[in-house]
Amino acid sequence: MTTKFLDVRDLEVSFATDQGIARVLDKVNFSIGPGEIVGLVGESGCGKTTLARTILGVLPENSARISNGVINFDGEDLLQKSSEELSANIRGRVITFIPQDPFTSFNPVFTIGTQIMELMRWKSPRRDDPQYVNSLGKILNIYPRARYKADYQQVLEQLREVQLPEPEAVLAKYPHEVSGGQRQRLMIAMALLPDPKLIIADEPTTALDVTIQAQILKLLRQLARDRNVAILFTTHDLGTTYEICDRVTVMYAGQEMEAALVDGFFNRPSHPYTKRLLESLPNQEHGIEGIPGDIPSLINAPPGCRFHQRCDYATGECSVSRAASTEIGTDHMVRCYHPVSRPKTQTEAAS
Ligand SMILES: Nc1ncnc2c1ncn2[C@@H]1O[C@H](COP(=O)(O)OP(=O)(O)OP(=O)(O)O)[C@@H](O)[C@H]1O
Ligand code: SF4
Ligand SMILES: [Mg+2]
Repeated sequence: MTTKFLDVRDLEVSFATDQGIARVLDKVNFSIGPGEIVGLVGESGCGKTTLARTILGVLPENSARISNGVINFDGEDLLQKSSEELSANIRGRVITFIPQDPFTSFNPVFTIGTQIMELMRWKSPRRDDPQYVNSLGKILNIYPRARYKADYQQVLEQLREVQLPEPEAVLAKYPHEVSGGQRQRLMIAMALLPDPKLIIADEPTTALDVTIQAQILKLLRQLARDRNVAILFTTHDLGTTYEICDRVTVMYAGQEMEAALVDGFFNRPSHPYTKRLLESLPNQEHGIEGIPGDIPSLINAPPGCRFHQRCDYATGECSVSRAASTEIGTDHMVRCYHPVSRPKTQTEAAS
């Protein structure tokens, strides 16, 4: 197993709804190594955004409750930090975010330059550099002129790096004056500017045309590699995962089911749900083979493995408690009592 630099353990998150308490994350485990690109994959409603928002510390305060778990990030439990500390020192600095919809991410009334420089004012890597800070400036909350100049140069370089031509002209524009693809390039630039260790990209290309999607994903992967930045990438698309991720974690109805390196995942899927998911991809011979049955409601969700009502391999214990996470190959974890392609035991091999 690679060093875990983000390590989520036994995370439980629920939401109060009019229909009752929805247990949206049920003792979820998830990890990322430094510089690794990990795909968090699952059908709509399985809890991808909730996990991303819990790590970022932006769950809705009035309805969400974290009842268990730890989120170790670079040696510290983020769940023990105050919201002020998360906002000042973690979110937008060491962990940044690329949203799904580049159309609603900018404020329409300010130029792009104004909005990016406001980000740099608070989140620039030079913010605490003694070269640019003096006590009077701190008291008056001034954006020091020398730092502004250095930050501005960094912004121009970053825009060139995300392949936006004529960066000065882009900065002078209003958000509606650039295309969706350009806005998402701007979002990638803004996510990289604070020099983060982890970027959380929540379905960053689903709002874009297919041809633009591929370009943006390639760019994101290349930049993350160059900078050694880790990415948590949520998606419901296994094809995209295969193309850009190093590792995959599959979720179903608020539970993580299988986590593996991309190669092991696609060649030796071992969780019954994962296998069905891969079989359900359209192929030339069979077309799409759906999984019979429905995803269970998260309000009064069934105990045990939430896939048990649809699983061909289910036995009594599956509907009582969740299986422990078991390593069945190098960096390949499965939470199942009966993984499908586990190595044979000696008794099975002899029979
Ligand atoms: N603020 C909220 N209040 C109540 N329920 C919520 C809230 N946010 C999310 N949920 C519920 O939590 C579950 C998981 O939602 P989430 O958005 O995390 O799923 P997702 O995997 O990101 O789905 P998608 O692929 O559609 O983005 C869903 O059942 C959703 O209805
Ligand atoms: S065998 Fe049991 S634990 Fe494994 S996927 Fe099926 S129901 Fe879940
Ligand atoms: Mg989502």
